[in-house]
Amino acid sequence: MRVLVTGVTGYIGSHAAVELLGAGHDVIGVDDFSASTIETRQAIERAAGRKIEFHELDLRDGKGVECLLGHAELDAILHFAGRKFVGESVANPIRYYTRNVTASVNLFAAAERNAINNVVFSSSCTVYGNPAKLPVTEQSQIAPVSPYGRTKAVVEGLLQDLCHAQPKMRALALRYFNPIGAHPSGLIGEIPWGTPNNLVPYVMEVATGERAVLSVFGDDYNTPDGTCVRDYVHVVDIAKAHVLALEAVRRNTFGNRFENRDGFGALNLGTGHGSSVLEVLDACRTATQRPIAHQVVARRPGDAAVIYADPTRAASELGWRAELDLITMCTDHWNFAQNIAEQQADVS
Ligand code: UFG
Repeated sequence: MRVLVTGVTGYIGSHAAVELLGAGHDVIGVDDFSASTIETRQAIERAAGRKIEFHELDLRDGKGVECLLGHAELDAILHFAGRKFVGESVANPIRYYTRNVTASVNLFAAAERNAINNVVFSSSCTVYGNPAKLPVTEQSQIAPVSPYGRTKAVVEGLLQDLCHAQPKMRALALRYFNPIGAHPSGLIGEIPWGTPNNLVPYVMEVATGERAVLSVFGDDYNTPDGTCVRDYVHVVDIAKAHVLALEAVRRNTFGNRFENRDGFGALNLGTGHGSSVLEVLDACRTATQRPIAHQVVARRPGDAAVIYADPTRAASELGWRAELDLITMCTDHWNFAQNIAEQQADVS
């Protein structure tokens, strides 16, 4: 298939591109480099041993999107581009509604006009907000608690409505839990921009010596060691799920046993197993062989105590299961973090 990958030089888009190329698909990548760099394009090509077609494009530019989709002869779209930080979305909701929602409306309007009917959308477990029951299934209530989460839920709704209106349109929303890790080649991974918001990127900067100490946000939760529990999943496992999702969408084989009737479905991507902040820290100490100082500070507002996935639907619909364990996630993340630290040292 000729597959448009939006946000191709971003964290998950870049890993998905490598897996798509490995599976024999052609990648037509777009990015505006608002949170990534051109070097990632070459890194994707080196990791996959194949070239991609690339267009620099901001999806808020509706005419540009229409022009690309009108000419690119696409079979499918994998839509990753968007902002992803809860705190930033609270401070600047307009940025989230334009970059996540307006951009998606432009993209899917052009897809509809050009009869590009196979879509996989990058969603998040954040659409569930603070779930009442665990593990989280796809039937859990959609109740996002941040502007970021609401933009993901809005775009899922848009795709559901579009699939209802256009009988040939089929879309799968993949709801990621906590992706970490990097490609085993060490060539691609999550490039930190400023102070990391997320746990593992921050831990890695303590390990490289760039930061002094990790702040653990609260150890008085009702969990075994008092720290929050999340479902961490290797980014390469997440990337592989996209290849399977794309094939399921094309064959229209998903949803037969579930509520899907209009060609729209949503799947959780997690391991089904939760790890606490202190367990992740220990795994990172093992992976990095560095001490990694930490201090316990106040809870972070908005953090749920425990979230982990019920991933059985992804297994039954796609045959997908997360395969890589926490130590592998931390080891691969560390390899990439060291490469980035070395590159930054060379530049300065
Ligand atoms: N944490 C720390 N110290 C840090 C950073 C994080 O203790 O410096 C803790 C958090 O309190 C949380 C856990 O580590 O308990 C994981 O935090 P992350 O920020 O890495 O991940 P979240 O679970 O908060 O966020 C993830 C995604 C978001 C998504 C959200 C939905 O990164 O994009 O899940 O719940 F919106």
